[in-house]
Amino acid sequence: MRFLLPALLLFSSCASAQTNPEPPLIPRPASMIMGQGYFAVTSAVSILIDSKELKPEGAYLRDVLTTLLPEAPMLLPQRTIEGPVIALAISNDGEMPAEGYSLHIAPERIDLLASDRAGVFHGIQTLIQLLPPKGSETAIPCLTITDHPRFAWRGMHLDVCRHFFGVEFVKKYIDLLARYKMNRFHWHLTDDQGWRIEIKKYPKLTEVGAWRSGSQIGPYGRGEYDSIPYGGFYTQDQIREVVAYAAARHITVVPEIEMPGHAMAALAAYPEYSCTGGPFEVQKGWGVFEDVFCAGNDSTFSFLQDVLTEVMDLFPSDYIHIGGDECPKERWKTCAKCQARMKSGGLKDEHELQSYFIQRIEKFVNSKGRKIIGWDEILEGGLAPNAAVMSWRGTEGGVAAAKSGHYAVMSPGSHCYFDHYQGDPANEPLAIGGYTTVQKVYSYEPIPAELKADQAKYILGAQGNVWTEYILTPEHVEYMAVPRMLALAEVLWTPKEKRDEADFIKRLELEFARLEVMGVNASKSLYQVSIVPRQGDGSGAIIIDFKKPTARFPLLIEWSIGDTFVQNPSWPSSIEIHDTSLVRASLVDTTGGVFRAPYPTSTRYFVFNLATAQKITATPPPAERYNEGGAFTLVDGITAQEKRVNTEWLGWLKDVSITVDLGSEQDISHIGIGALNETYSWIHLPKQVEVSISSDGKNYSPLGSAEAKATVGRSEFVINKAVKARYVRLVVKHAGLIPEGFPGAGKQSWLFLDEIDVH
Ligand code: ACM
Ligand code: ZN
Repeated sequence: MRFLLPALLLFSSCASAQTNPEPPLIPRPASMIMGQGYFAVTSAVSILIDSKELKPEGAYLRDVLTTLLPEAPMLLPQRTIEGPVIALAISNDGEMPAEGYSLHIAPERIDLLASDRAGVFHGIQTLIQLLPPKGSETAIPCLTITDHPRFAWRGMHLDVCRHFFGVEFVKKYIDLLARYKMNRFHWHLTDDQGWRIEIKKYPKLTEVGAWRSGSQIGPYGRGEYDSIPYGGFYTQDQIREVVAYAAARHITVVPEIEMPGHAMAALAAYPEYSCTGGPFEVQKGWGVFEDVFCAGNDSTFSFLQDVLTEVMDLFPSDYIHIGGDECPKERWKTCAKCQARMKSGGLKDEHELQSYFIQRIEKFVNSKGRKIIGWDEILEGGLAPNAAVMSWRGTEGGVAAAKSGHYAVMSPGSHCYFDHYQGDPANEPLAIGGYTTVQKVYSYEPIPAELKADQAKYILGAQGNVWTEYILTPEHVEYMAVPRMLALAEVLWTPKEKRDEADFIKRLELEFARLEVMGVNASKSLYQVSIVPRQGDGSGAIIIDFKKPTARFPLLIEWSIGDTFVQNPSWPSSIEIHDTSLVRASLVDTTGGVFRAPYPTSTRYFVFNLATAQKITATPPPAERYNEGGAFTLVDGITAQEKRVNTEWLGWLKDVSITVDLGSEQDISHIGIGALNETYSWIHLPKQVEVSISSDGKNYSPLGSAEAKATVGRSEFVINKAVKARYVRLVVKHAGLIPEGFPGAGKQSWLFLDEIDVH
């Protein structure tokens, strides 16, 4: 055996020993006091456990150390040999909070004392974060940590229905949760696009319900599908394997069985539990579907109770998630059985029928000694007596639950939906929408301000959700979940007063290097430089501001127009462009820092035409919500795409007149403007675009009406005529009220425009 310890260990014996620097732990411990000197982690170390109960945790630690050391350390019930030890013990003084631990590292001995086995496990995770990422004998700093979680529910969710992820990846995901001391894995197992859990009594749920004939491709609402059969499911043996794997990591797996809505896969297999009798298909596209479980049919409840019985046999979780979100009531309104149920039960509307549905299921689940949790729609029509609420449509559901003495888990879309964009969409893979940076997640406070202390205790914690409509691979799940789940883990674990964004970002930088060694495809969007155009003097120049992603970094940005990168040592920085240019920018680490992987490069392609960066007016101006950059956005050199977070499109609820001054008389053969057709978002193409031109900006002569094909997505309204003009005017006629047959029928439609092209 070879003992090769880092030089810093040698220092520890010097008289001039210094207090160790703080290690970059995530989540940050409640209390950490640095000591002097180091503990040498070698094969000579023995792991001691104070009771048989801690054998699994001891074995877990031994297995981790074995990957670093030439020989496996010994795992012993008590001290039987000389040498350095890591002693794991449960405290029986009753002082320590649940899941809490204290970790004392001295040169010859590590003592990990915890309130329970979960606390021992969390302490081991802290110890692991102190170790190097790759195999080698090492030394870890002497310190004392006293630590415990702020919240009891520290969750991550994974949707395996829209896309399926196998057991190996689910275990890797659970390992990530464990590393950051999260303790709930919410497994979204059933939905319209696939039923993913074997149920012995109803084999068709997976024979039929686990498979679809194709999948939606491209942005939401496009109506484009491939025809590649897709599916998969977990056998009950695999489920048991995952549940045991998670339990060994002190993570409770919370299964979700969706009802009464999001049930198309189940109904494709067993249409008799719908209102109409079907037939149905497992859905290829994303969204909300009108066929749901029939609430008037007693056999629906027998079926769901049978399913839940098998589910409760597989999952020891105290909470069973029964979905409850996004359940349209259309079928219930015209179903004789549902209407009869409402009449006999004295239910005044379909919301009360939904409440009846959930309460009946709750009664059954409670009778088995378990509790239900559901999305916040379960509040509508009256909350089931013992139900907990998962608040996703903002925080109101959680607030209402807590105020009425019900437990709640916070998962608001604004901070906890990790399917949202995390960086500038121009540089991100297609996502469902939204914009939730890692800093925004870090800023989240799970206790809503309006709750009093006696109500706040009903907030169990929070959870990050990873819906997978646009996430097809394990690598992409990792990209969306990491590092945002690390930010949420710290929100949920660390005392509020110890939270510090700049400090977190610094620790995260070091953690990225470890994640890389662990083979985790973490997103580096945090380091993306934003390339933001603004109007120059109105004579064809665009000023580009490079916005640094995080204030902390003493890093240069490097930018290029075309191929040659230029380093810009001054900050903030901007450049001016006058012609079509590919602009790229990235951070450059000049500090020789730990994070050596290249920083991501942001790219924007600015295309100039005669109108670009010229003087422009729009009357009236865009609606406040969709007015990013003002009218300049129409001539900023960037053509808005369907993939959007509303920064590139301007929106109106009425007609608009747009005038561009080209600066001098120009030869023109083409005048066009882009409009968006996205009817599921209430965005309709304009009725027409009337184009006129002028030489003096006073007298305009009409050129005609620009037409477009009514295609889905971006459409160009164009007129092709050879003329001379200095001023170009486009009067865009809004589509008016949304016609019947479209979402939002009868409401005012939106007009979305971007980028004028004159050449
Ligand atoms: C949800 O995002 N429909 C809970
Ligand atoms: Zn019905």
